[in-house]
Amino acid sequence: MSTTILVTGGAGYIGSHACKVLARAGYTPVTYDSLTTGWRDAVTFGPFEEGDLLDRERLDQVFAAYRPAAVMHFAALSQVGESMTDPGTYWRNNVAGSLTLIEAAVAAGCLNFVFSSTCATYGDQDGVVLDEGCAQYPLNAYGASKRAIEDMLENFEASHGLRHVIFRYFNVAGADPDGEVGEFHRPETHLIPLMLDAVDGKRDALTIFGTDYDTPDGTCVRDYVHVMDLVDAHVLGLKWLQDDKGSRVFNLGTGTGFTVREVVNSSAAVTNREVPIIEGDRRPGDCVALVSGSTRAGQELGWQPARSTLDAMITDAWRWHQTGNYER
Ligand code: UFG
Repeated sequence: MSTTILVTGGAGYIGSHACKVLARAGYTPVTYDSLTTGWRDAVTFGPFEEGDLLDRERLDQVFAAYRPAAVMHFAALSQVGESMTDPGTYWRNNVAGSLTLIEAAVAAGCLNFVFSSTCATYGDQDGVVLDEGCAQYPLNAYGASKRAIEDMLENFEASHGLRHVIFRYFNVAGADPDGEVGEFHRPETHLIPLMLDAVDGKRDALTIFGTDYDTPDGTCVRDYVHVMDLVDAHVLGLKWLQDDKGSRVFNLGTGTGFTVREVVNSSAAVTNREVPIIEGDRRPGDCVALVSGSTRAGQELGWQPARSTLDAMITDAWRWHQTGNYER
């Protein structure tokens, strides 16, 4: 019988890709999702259980029904801007929701936990190498909520033996090359899908948020990682826990940063079309540069982000953009 993994947020962008690679690796992913920001059509691998993270009774039922060997916890609100105007919702959904989930997991005896955290927990640290040991100073409530959950996991390890792998994502991009699942947010706030909307006329232009930063071309620098590479790391993280290697934090980024303008320029090569742009103001809560300074995931997990070139990420995002959506 295959091992069952409870995947919260399995109807979302990253969670749906994770379910695909879990199924391919021989696991049974069970999606637990409230469909607040996820899509029923995105659940194509494994069973679906609708429910909210804050609903302890429903979580208890699902743990009892499936007896998962581990939890992969993707479900979260993730818009930086919204987190600044409505922090309460972020603390309630992300922090109180994760607490409810962790307590349910511990009560069910499910003590392996893989958690989606973020480089937004680091904040802007001029000249500091962003590796797993560096201090965390989140600039926004989204990052603060993720940092709080990291602390919570440590506390529950000490008290209840909850083994965890924490992944701090840099900028996730691209889509399943087979086009079975992809990136679909309503509203969309991420650079690459918004850029592709501008390329094919679904929006008038891409607004570049700030062109006066202290970077080579004045726009923000990010470390983009292909979603398929990212979810491959999760399968490695799961094996790490199953091999009893203990709790660990891993950055997931390539170590190479690209400016917003570099992303825009590489889309022309993929789509053969220009990106109409507007040079706008800075977006509140944005960091100047976020680039991973760690090789830990490569060295310890054997993770190789083979697809994480701008060209491959934009090619896969463009294919999905032209064919896929979940509002069928
Ligand atoms: N950008 C634009 N115009 C846009 C959208 C984005 O110029 O219309 C710029 C941003 O200013 C930033 C870069 O493109 O410099 C990437 O922006 P995204 O919104 O795509 O992603 P973020 O860098 O804001 O990512 C952050 C955190 C992630 C987190 C994500 C949540 O770093 O960990 O927000 O949405 F998951």
